Amino acid sequence: MQKTIKHHNNYLTLTFFLMVAALINGCASGQLGKNNSGEFKNGMVVSAHPEASQVGVDILKKGGNAVDAAVAVQFALAVVYPNAGNIGGGGFMVYRSAAGETNALDFREKAAAAANRDMYLDAAGNPIVDKSLYGHLAAGVPGSVDGMVEAHKKYGKLSWAQVIQPAIDLAEKGFKITKRQAGELNGLHRNFMDFNPLGTAFVNLESTWKENDLLVQNELANTLKLIQQKGRDGFYGGSVADSIVAEMQRGKGLVTKEDLKNYHAVWRKPVVGQYRGYKIITMPPTSSGGIALIQLLQSVEPYPLKKWGHNADSTVQLIVEAERRVYADRATHLGDPDFYAVPQKQLLNAEYNKNRMANFNWAAATPSSSVLAGEIAGKEHEETTHFSIVDREGNAVSITTTLNGSYGSLVVVKGAGFLLNNEMDDFSVKPGAPNMYGLVGGEANAIAPNKRMLSSMTPSIVEKGGKLFMVVGTPGGSTIITSVFQTIINVIDFEMPMQAAVAAKKFHHQWLPDEVYVEKGALDSLAVKTLEAKGYKIVPRGAIGRVDAILKTKWGYYQGGADPRGDDKAIGY
Ligand code: GLY
Repeated sequence: MQKTIKHHNNYLTLTFFLMVAALINGCASGQLGKNNSGEFKNGMVVSAHPEASQVGVDILKKGGNAVDAAVAVQFALAVVYPNAGNIGGGGFMVYRSAAGETNALDFREKAAAAANRDMYLDAAGNPIVDKSLYGHLAAGVPGSVDGMVEAHKKYGKLSWAQVIQPAIDLAEKGFKITKRQAGELNGLHRNFMDFNPLGTAFVNLESTWKENDLLVQNELANTLKLIQQKGRDGFYGGSVADSIVAEMQRGKGLVTKEDLKNYHAVWRKPVVGQYRGYKIITMPPTSSGGIALIQLLQSVEPYPLKKWGHNADSTVQLIVEAERRVYADRATHLGDPDFYAVPQKQLLNAEYNKNRMANFNWAAATPSSSVLAGEIAGKEHEETTHFSIVDREGNAVSITTTLNGSYGSLVVVKGAGFLLNNEMDDFSVKPGAPNMYGLVGGEANAIAPNKRMLSSMTPSIVEKGGKLFMVVGTPGGSTIITSVFQTIINVIDFEMPMQAAVAAKKFHHQWLPDEVYVEKGALDSLAVKTLEAKGYKIVPRGAIGRVDAILKTKWGYYQGGADPRGDDKAIGY
């Protein structure tokens, strides 16, 4: 076995320095919230948009808890980060109270009652690609508003009106768009015109969008006011439901008033696993992410990653082989647990995962064609968003939320001002068909009326010694699972501080296609040569993930990790 042992002394030195600084400053500053290392005592919010992070921290400062702040951030992101923040999509929340109670909320979208297994196939039985991706037919029944109502009802402390008000203000008064957002809105100008002939706030008819232009969304502000006044009925009933159904009728979509009335988020038992003495609390199905995360951790736990070093060739090879097997399992065995018996117990069994790794060979890559599983993965969109929140008491919330593609289906509900998701594309559009290796799969995730589509979103919380240790998650479609996994091992195995763990370059393998995707600078040239000589196909690619995470230090301070791949921001107090 050839190894490139990389030293991580830099991380150790930095960690030591931060610890000493925290200790000195912690003593010196008494109850003051911030120490000299930029760590905070009283709470923290890390999200994809500075305005949304600020909304969350303001709610904490008003005496709100982590769930109050999370609800406020979810609604704020629907205004200031419309490419993934949403009220027309869905998501997952993993919660841990300061006392150690854990819970998971599934507010994933559902297929409409009129949906059917073959709805995206042509007469010859072939998928019509754009049909599940763009326009009204791509949308599932939205889950975010009911999810936030449920979360707030169970755990919230401030009033419902208080936590929604900041989003209303941002929609009504407007917010300054970033350079990135101006570019996106200009790039989608034609598409927004085509899918929204009656007009939308995202179309600038007078000029092109520029950085710092004010985006005012009056229709969305009115919808948020109705949600503020009437709770779930302000969205799933009344004039907003009328607008959604009218929009569906205009564009031949399927969502009806009955679908809206019948939508309910579900509390589920989190998936829990152990890794090197840490407890991982993560999302159960309808997400594949939690199970796959625990499988990956169990697969690598017997090996000395720390000795080999971060992104050393042995580390990369082991992780790639684990990912190959775990993603193959995902394609076959995961789907909506209300419709399909996911073999959760077996997949989470440490012996099972150890055995899955037994046939890999250090001398050569295992071809994915020899790893039994189902349908080809790899079409998932990467434009979801994640936020992590902790409050003064130590309650923690990890939420990943999405419209699926960037700006979802591109349809803005006329009169209600919010984007509809294109989450139907996360179903297996053509299950049961043999793939290029003659294997059959995808039944677990076939389209059915009222079913939830499989997700990779992996909001997670880590405990150490029975206490809160980390809150973590990311967007990134199929790369979500590996990004969360690598962030966790960056901290636990490679002893990186939170920001370094988030910023560290990542790599990804997902069984099929049989390629290792590598961010620029993730591997040194010797590691690349060593892996290529063993038969691994190394493919450079752009950003992998956009992790937003929080670490609790042993002195009780919160360290933020805001991903530099986006405009993300950690704000503490
Ligand atoms: N739409 C991305 C996911 O749910 O994984």
